[in-house]
Amino acid sequence: MSASAQQLPPGAYRPPTDVWGGFARLARRMPREPVVVLDARVARLHPEVRPALARLAPRAVITVPGGEAAKSFRVLERILVGAASLPRAGALVAIGGGTIGDVATVAAHLLKRGVGLHHVPTTVLAAVDSSLGGKGAVDVTVSGRAVKNLAGVFHTAEACWLCPEFFTTLSDAQRREGAIEAWKMAVCLDASRFHAWCRRPPPLPRLVREARTLKESVVREDPYERTGLRKVLNFGHTFGHVLESVSRFRLAHGEAVGLGMVCALDVGRALGVTPEPLARSVEEVLQRKAGVRERAVMARLLARSHASEVGGLLATDKKAGTRGELQVVLLAEVGRARVVPVAPRIWQALLPLWRKGVRP
Ligand SMILES: NC(=O)c1ccc[n+]([C@@H]2O[C@H](COP(=O)([O-])OP(=O)(O)OC[C@H]3O[C@@H](n4cnc5c(N)ncnc54)[C@H](O)[C@@H]3O)[C@@H](O)[C@H]2O)c1
Ligand SMILES: [Zn+2]
Repeated sequence: MSASAQQLPPGAYRPPTDVWGGFARLARRMPREPVVVLDARVARLHPEVRPALARLAPRAVITVPGGEAAKSFRVLERILVGAASLPRAGALVAIGGGTIGDVATVAAHLLKRGVGLHHVPTTVLAAVDSSLGGKGAVDVTVSGRAVKNLAGVFHTAEACWLCPEFFTTLSDAQRREGAIEAWKMAVCLDASRFHAWCRRPPPLPRLVREARTLKESVVREDPYERTGLRKVLNFGHTFGHVLESVSRFRLAHGEAVGLGMVCALDVGRALGVTPEPLARSVEEVLQRKAGVRERAVMARLLARSHASEVGGLLATDKKAGTRGELQVVLLAEVGRARVVPVAPRIWQALLPLWRKGVRP
């Protein structure tokens, strides 16, 4: 770590320090006497983790089941209590997927007004997306409904330790989910990378590495999400969140985002932002190379839900504007996305076609 990075307060934005390798070897270089938040499933599937951690003389290893339930005040409190002895100069190490990383980020921000944070992302989604950019959050139940990421912080990690061995125990669907988010970044940020990936889809570690570079290119321009530049990373997420919800969260986030990108291409065409040949070719690439599901999957999900439900979900979307117009990320060309206000009549006209699985 550079001297200037060491002078920054814990959690302040700094360029990422990524370290790649096998976990047992990398663990020797991690901060000593940390508090570790460890995904319970990872602990079970990767028995090499505990002995490697033991050599760091951790103050505590707090094992937490992964999954959205980890992003709760209850788990946050468990971490704060377990980490009470950590000094301000100490480090919290999060080993797990995006949920463990998110709750640990909040804990690192709160503990002693901020301690050092280290990510060890064990899902592709966490490696590509959540372990970079400083965001962490827990969900809060409001009037009986869980509101995702309601209590959140920015707290940039001091380092991210990337160990591809963890990805070997993920399901194909989990790997695909992370890869779809990586492709999302190439589609909306970097035409030459997108075309290179189309010619030859990179092996997983390279996909992760290059996606992190892409994400960082936006994060460093807008580390605290003030200018709106980071919003382009929401490509596919407006309609993706609707599909996630109507599936009662049986459709995984990344899969939903994949289909959400298809919806955003349709909306872009309807508004004349996305040229037809571009929309067609990007959809084809997303399906053939990135593993995005076919439109029939979206049709089955939407067929079971009422249009009013879709409208309600879109209206509560945090990106909704005052007159019901949505702020949707649309693709103008490969590598260039922008946020465009979309009136309700636009998606209302497309919905019947999405429900039939027909390309408009
Ligand atoms: N902070 C951000 O910028 C950001 C960005 C994107 C997503 N997120 C958040 O990330 C979360 C989703 O992350 P996720 O998909 O990693 O979910 P997750 O953390 O729930 O992990 C998914 C499942 O995989 C298991 N798992 C983890 N590593 C494994 C491994 N190596 N082998 C086998 N199983 C493993 C977990 O126990 C869990 O059951 C969401 O809550 C989302 O809001 C945050
Ligand atoms: Zn996402």
